[in-house]
Amino acid sequence: MEDTTTGLKQKSPLSARDIGIRSYVVRSGRMTDMQKDALQSLYPKYGLDWNPDLLLNEQALFGTNGHPFIVEIGFGMGLATADIAAALPDHRFLGLEVHAPGVGKLMSEMEKRTIRNIRICRHDAVEVVDSMLAPDSVDGFHVFFPDPWPKKRHHKRRIMNQSFVALMSSRLKPGGYLYYVTDWEEYAERTLETMDAEPLLKNACERWAERAPWRPVTKFEQRAINDGRPIRELRFVRV
Ligand SMILES: C[S@@+](CC[C@H](N)C(=O)[O-])C[C@H]1O[C@@H](n2cnc3c(N)ncnc32)[C@H](O)[C@@H]1O
Repeated sequence: MEDTTTGLKQKSPLSARDIGIRSYVVRSGRMTDMQKDALQSLYPKYGLDWNPDLLLNEQALFGTNGHPFIVEIGFGMGLATADIAAALPDHRFLGLEVHAPGVGKLMSEMEKRTIRNIRICRHDAVEVVDSMLAPDSVDGFHVFFPDPWPKKRHHKRRIMNQSFVALMSSRLKPGGYLYYVTDWEEYAERTLETMDAEPLLKNACERWAERAPWRPVTKFEQRAINDGRPIRELRFVRV
């Protein structure tokens, strides 16, 4: 795609195979009336349609400049997203999620809590990062509890694969970070290897990272802790 600000073609590390394999299945999932209403009435205010000819950056999304610009991949119901955005009011967030009830839920939460520093695109995050984010434009990526796809034959669906990690790294500004959290030990180990192998990234910690003070414990995470599964966090920075 052409970068409308520089006229340069953006380089993509994705192959046709990466684009063909989705990291999600579209669930029919029941929506509450509130989520349906929010999706209809609030998407024009907080949401953006998929458009590979448009670049999403702080200026385009918020009309401001100079705030840290953070992109969250697969925010689910968005409860952590809303808490983090409320805790970091000087940051600007772009949330990417395909699951409609979650998009509705996050927007109704934003409205209820007067959270104004989030925008949402309901579309495949891989395609959005590839086509709608310019190289060196993002201060941080959050990937919290991505689907672990535990069966070996489904590992190819895991979003934290080598090419998506390379793609996110290319969109980070130098010094920007990629923050990944999972309760799935084997996925954590694989992702550590994947991120270690990415030449644009460097582990900011010895091995596992500490929980960021602003990252809340979600209900989902609490269940993992109660079940005795360790929470693994990785924080890498772009060199
Ligand atoms: C296991 S849930 C975790 C949700 C949330 N991050 C949390 O911590 O509770 C993973 C989410 O990622 C979303 N997802 C998976 N692949 C995606 C993609 N390529 N683009 C956008 N969303 C995706 C799924 O729809 C799902 O809601």
